[in-house]
Amino acid sequence: MSKIEIKLSDIPEGKNMTFKWRGKPLFVRHRTEKEIATEAAVSLAELRDPQHDKDRVIDPSWVIVLGVCTHLGCVPIANAGEYGGYYCPCHGSHYDASGRIRKGPAPLNLEVPYYEFPDDDTVIVG
Ligand code: FES
Repeated sequence: MSKIEIKLSDIPEGKNMTFKWRGKPLFVRHRTEKEIATEAAVSLAELRDPQHDKDRVIDPSWVIVLGVCTHLGCVPIANAGEYGGYYCPCHGSHYDASGRIRKGPAPLNLEVPYYEFPDDDTVIVG
C-alpha cells in the first residue's frame, strides 16, 4: 500500500494520531490556534535545521510527518518534550509542534511526506 487515506474529522484539535504507512509510523497532528501561532513566530536563527513552519505544512491546522526520529529512528512521543511537539525518549531529542528539531542529538526535522487534501475532510499521504 503506497498511499493512505485519513479522515480528518476523526482527529480532534490538539491531538496527534499515529498511522502506519509504508511500514513506518505516520503522525497526523491537528494543531491548536496557539500551536499554529507559536510555530509561525519561530525565527530561523533558532533552528538547527532551518525551515519555516509554512514550508512544512499545506494547511497550518495539520502537521503531517513521519514518526521516525532523525537521530537513530526511534518513534517520538507526541505532545511531550520542552517544545510541546514531540519527544524522542531514546536519547532525548525534542521537536516542536512543526516537527522541527529543537534540542538533543537528532540532526534534522521530522520528515514531511508528500500529501494532498482532496477535500476538506480527507488527506491522502503518498
Ligand atoms: Fe531519537 Fe536517538 S533515536 S534521540
